[in-house]
Amino acid sequence: MGALSSLAWALWYILPAYFANGSPVLFGGGSPIDGGRLWKDGKRLLGDGKTWRGFFGGVGTGTLIGLLQYFFTPSFYGSIGSALILAFLLSFGALFGDLVGSFIKRRLDLPRGYPAVGLDQLGFLISAMVFAYPVKTISSGQMLFLLVFTPLLHWGTNYLAYRMGWKSVPW
Ligand code: CTP
Ligand code: MG
Repeated sequence: MGALSSLAWALWYILPAYFANGSPVLFGGGSPIDGGRLWKDGKRLLGDGKTWRGFFGGVGTGTLIGLLQYFFTPSFYGSIGSALILAFLLSFGALFGDLVGSFIKRRLDLPRGYPAVGLDQLGFLISAMVFAYPVKTISSGQMLFLLVFTPLLHWGTNYLAYRMGWKSVPW
């Protein structure tokens, strides 16, 4: 495998996590996952930015991306079942990591939507890779590439979502 194609495969591998993380901005709304509840510190558990619709919309979108990916590169996944399981774990892991990130942000007293550099861009990625690890993994070099590339993509796409009017802040 050439260096360039190895990086392209890393992006192909992580694609469901990207879609899972990015789509809630379109699907989100409705009741927050924490139901408005507060933690011991008197602050919100997760905040209004984490909704059930966003969560399940994101997991569904990411899993669907995996189904599409299977039809393009069946040999990368082996079977349709393993493609779906991998995409589900990447998506669920991404959204779970996103919730953990918001939990940490609320404990640090950061309001909803306030940027937390590092946490916002890498929390979902690391969590996605951990959840998917038992099913299919990538090399440590590929992981390192994703850790460097994802923040750049995150900033670029968030700025685009802001310009499209989907997000109220450009991060
Ligand atoms: N979103 C959602 N449900 C989720 C995740 C995201 O509805 N589980 C939607 C919300 O409308 C949210 C938007 O997607 O405002 C952007 O997501 P994100 O940046 O993760 O949330 P923030 O609003 O920045 O909230 P936080 O400060 O908790 O990260
Ligand atoms: Mg945010």
